[in-house]
Amino acid sequence: MLSKKTPFILYGGDYNPDQWDEKTIDEDMKLFKKAGVNLLVLPVFSWAKLEPEEGRYEFEWLDKILNKIWENHIYVFLATPTTAQPAWLSKKYADVLPVDITGRKRTHGMRVFFCVNSEHYRLRARALAEAMAEHYRDFPGLAGWHVSNEYGTYCYCENCQNKFRGWLKKRYGTIENLNDRWHTSFWGRTVYDFDEIMVPSELNDDYRFSPAVQLDYMRFVTDSTIGCYLNEATVLKAATPDLPVFSNISGYIKKLNQFEMVPHMDCAGWDNYPAPTDEPAFIALKHDIMRGAKDGASYLVTEQSPNQQNWQPYNKLKRPGELRRLAYQGMAHGADSSLYFQMRQSIAGQEKFHGALIAHCGEDTRIFREMCVLGQELKKLGRAFVGGRTKARAAIVFDWDNWWALELSSGPTQDMDYLKQVYKYYKAFHSQNIPVDMVKTTRELSAYDVVVLPLMYMVKPGFDEKIRTLVESGKTVLATYMSGRADENDRCIFGAYPGPLGDVFGLWVEETDALYPQESVEITMDGSNIHYPEGAYRGRFLCDILHTTTARVLGRYGRAYDGAQEIRCFYSGSPAITCNDFGKGRAYYVGTEMDTLFMERLVDAMCREQGIYAPFKTDGALEVTCRENEDGQFWFVINHGSEKGCVYLGKALDCKETADYGHSGTVYRDLLRDRNVAGAYEIEAGDVAVLKVMEGMPV
Ligand code: GLA
Ligand code: ZN
Repeated sequence: MLSKKTPFILYGGDYNPDQWDEKTIDEDMKLFKKAGVNLLVLPVFSWAKLEPEEGRYEFEWLDKILNKIWENHIYVFLATPTTAQPAWLSKKYADVLPVDITGRKRTHGMRVFFCVNSEHYRLRARALAEAMAEHYRDFPGLAGWHVSNEYGTYCYCENCQNKFRGWLKKRYGTIENLNDRWHTSFWGRTVYDFDEIMVPSELNDDYRFSPAVQLDYMRFVTDSTIGCYLNEATVLKAATPDLPVFSNISGYIKKLNQFEMVPHMDCAGWDNYPAPTDEPAFIALKHDIMRGAKDGASYLVTEQSPNQQNWQPYNKLKRPGELRRLAYQGMAHGADSSLYFQMRQSIAGQEKFHGALIAHCGEDTRIFREMCVLGQELKKLGRAFVGGRTKARAAIVFDWDNWWALELSSGPTQDMDYLKQVYKYYKAFHSQNIPVDMVKTTRELSAYDVVVLPLMYMVKPGFDEKIRTLVESGKTVLATYMSGRADENDRCIFGAYPGPLGDVFGLWVEETDALYPQESVEITMDGSNIHYPEGAYRGRFLCDILHTTTARVLGRYGRAYDGAQEIRCFYSGSPAITCNDFGKGRAYYVGTEMDTLFMERLVDAMCREQGIYAPFKTDGALEVTCRENEDGQFWFVINHGSEKGCVYLGKALDCKETADYGHSGTVYRDLLRDRNVAGAYEIEAGDVAVLKVMEGMPV
């Protein structure tokens, strides 16, 4: 659980009362109560108001608002408003504003627009955090600290350049070692002094950055941002050791390595702004990545929009029921909150058309009513599944360095999109409601029986050994094309791919062909004892041309097509899908991007080999997950479809048993509808259910 102080589902979100007069704030309090809001996040953007000149703090206005909030029994996450420094600070200290990738020194105006390594920014941010901690540490409504907002500025200033050099010196020790690790003999980039190293910007590179340098710069920016976060967080933590301290992560998660950052926080908190076209499973993947950031601990959804956004190309309204479904989906995957940006819609500025709990026209809105219903439901759920964890026996290894390196690489295809690729494998589990953890490369894997390594291009020291031991001990592992190619400095592994994993998979890859988007290759399954439906599957994107050593061939490349037109394929007949028995376990390899149906079949087969089954049989587009805490097991059933669905509630398998979809009499309490249910349970289109296992209860 996040904190003993707030043992319930947090509901509410970003509130910017400094934009409003007292009458409006009083009105807001009434509406918050009506909607069931129990937590507000503020003042995210009020540095200029809190510190009108250096060292002079004005807290009275905020005190007044906070007291009002607390009188209404609403908790707060106090935000250090350091995401938007005051103009005087940018003006007074030249090092505060960032330099962008083109070398332009930026001027004051934006938010999240400061150099994370700026000495004066850090000094003033820390002083503000200290002043706030001192002033508010005993405020009874304080439930935690929200540091800054959506970090992610990449700066290329001289200070960052110097810091980068220092960072490299610490990492590599000697210049000789750096030259070796960066393989600077390529294109004559040898350096003789750390001072000769430049930050990789447009001034020295026309977007053909050396991947090794760029990769280290991204690591450096992550580390610098962690430093910037800790600059405030340590002060806050010292003042209130029992309260959570964290920052919110932008939904565009690529910029900073969150698996490095989040461990420095008390919890992960992320901002979920799906595009209207995002599939529910894709949103689920991001939730599960956030759950993975702290090795399975519950996390926060710190922002969502109650309705439309303003910054998408086309800002679709949330359809009736959509906000509720999205809220439960977050909780179904491990969130202990459903927080929103924003509580009241601003009347001007960039976000004046962004949705809010309270719209310009007030409370008589569809969205306000929907938020009230959700608020009432969450109140009823109380502490329910709070702090609950997900039990998964399958895992997908996810890695930021791998993500960056894969996409920095020039070749083999311009369409490389790691997250999209990982999603293909994730979806194969998700569509069958098989729980899966998204795990770091450093995570202990022995608790998992099925492990998928999508495009594990970068093999970090020790990782191959981990996989080898895992398979040897009897587990099932799947690897794909673009695996085992490079080390942590993006130097290709000498010898055949997948490098140190070659013996585990019993094969070696000679070449990889990139397909045009309209091209595909049939895959004929001839060596498999796994049931596949009739007809050939198609491979796309990339095709490994591989040779087996000890692996069995399950599928081979067949006829190739450019659209509907058959074309010649010199590698038809060669292996595409293989399986290697290694020690007591099995290592599968897919040499090309297969269609979803195939991946579902393969994942199903791998899971069955390990005795992993979907917990319940379902009809319709139902997403089913489970969270467990000391109060028991809570099942979430979400119908994402436009038709009625049905979940056949048997005894939920703990996945060690053989699948039995019989209704063996377990009773579940539908917590939202206050009734006991068992057997076939129908869920209306777009509806959700939270079911608590009631051992030994009559229906
Ligand atoms: C981000 C920010 C918020 C707000 C929303 C709008 O997530 O953190 O302050 O700008 O976007 O969607
Ligand atoms: Zn800088």
